[in-house]
Amino acid sequence: MTDVTSAVSADSADSIPFAPSGSALDILFRSEQGGHEQVVLCQDRASGLKAVIAIHSTALGPALGGTRFHAYPGAAVPEEAALRDALNLARGMSYKNAMAGLEHGGGKAVIIGDPATLKSEELLLAYGRFVASLGGRYVTACDVGTYVADMDVVARECRWTTGRSPEQGGAGDSSVLTAFGVFQGMRAAAVHRWGSDDLTGRTVGIAGVGKVGHLLAGHLIEAGAEVVVTDVRQESVDRLTGAHPGVRVVADTEALIRTEGLDIYAPCALGGALNDRTVPALTASIVCGAANNQLDHPGVEKDLADRGILYAPDYVVNSGGVIQVADELHGFVFARAKAKAEGIHATTLEIFERAEAEGVPPAVAADRIAEARMAAAAAR
Ligand SMILES: NC(=O)c1ccc[n+]([C@@H]2O[C@H](COP(=O)([O-])OP(=O)(O)OC[C@H]3O[C@@H](n4cnc5c(N)ncnc54)[C@H](O)[C@@H]3O)[C@@H](O)[C@H]2O)c1
Repeated sequence: MTDVTSAVSADSADSIPFAPSGSALDILFRSEQGGHEQVVLCQDRASGLKAVIAIHSTALGPALGGTRFHAYPGAAVPEEAALRDALNLARGMSYKNAMAGLEHGGGKAVIIGDPATLKSEELLLAYGRFVASLGGRYVTACDVGTYVADMDVVARECRWTTGRSPEQGGAGDSSVLTAFGVFQGMRAAAVHRWGSDDLTGRTVGIAGVGKVGHLLAGHLIEAGAEVVVTDVRQESVDRLTGAHPGVRVVADTEALIRTEGLDIYAPCALGGALNDRTVPALTASIVCGAANNQLDHPGVEKDLADRGILYAPDYVVNSGGVIQVADELHGFVFARAKAKAEGIHATTLEIFERAEAEGVPPAVAADRIAEARMAAAAAR
């Protein structure tokens, strides 16, 4: 469904394309995308802090999800856009955390403003005090516009802060297990599609080789796959080809998705990668990547299935990052978090099997499993 934790610098275009229409209050109180337990509006005029904290569900445990710092340029009322985004993102986190098998519900926060000009220690400390005032119902982490160093500051006021630096007892950059988890999801998709998780000789196209895409390429090369990439930032491409000279680079995503002989397409940049234009052009038979909200609008999951393309749901395969930060609450142990992220392989396979048994696309099967887990926990 939606995004998570991490020091992502991908822009907020990965805010959910499935965003419901109507006012924020309509969404919250009257739509199927609403039903959030609690929404907190925070203001600290001294530092300029304006923030929304949305707790969608605590059925499975304290709500966990990152803090987005964004200005919503172009929105008629940025505060309204932020509120809608927070509602949407928090709900997505409920699904992601449920599917990852975490004892956490979904929540998300948005700090409204341009982080380049507004972010200050004073503001982050004020934000930390608001999160702390919720007494652990919401646990925060990084998201677009916030970084490990920011969480170290927030943590000075709030013990329910993850995504901190290793020096402060944190797990550091969450892209490490995000990439590992996507790789597990890809192996599961290969088993389902080709009967083996061996990726030797398979061609994988990665769109976006930033933090996650770069590490994913490393896993694939180690597994014997051919890697083709594209990125709008030359710096990201150079860093990758410097580390892995055998990687092939193409001009843009349009070229990548049409690459002859492409087996797997891994969107690792922005949301909305799978849409009415790209799906008909895809040469790959599997889609499995880290980007959030890859399905541009409802119905794309069916278009993929109709073309015989196996889609590994984004929020399932990119949950390694939230698994990593959730582990921080127990005193971070990398091996323990990695073992849990390995479970993404089994979860992804389970989704494909259920999708086949019920005659629905994998994205629908994943939503059904997550909803059943939340309903069962709420009924206890
Ligand atoms: N980092 C995590 O732990 C994590 C966890 C879950 C989901 N995600 C999602 O995975 C995606 C990647 O995250 P990241 O942390 O690697 O971000 P990042 O900012 O480090 O990397 C994104 C890369 O995509 C490139 N890019 C942007 N637009 C592009 C385009 N149109 N075509 C090709 N490349 C383009 C950027 O130049 C950049 O190199 C994001 O959607 C993010 O929300 C990340």
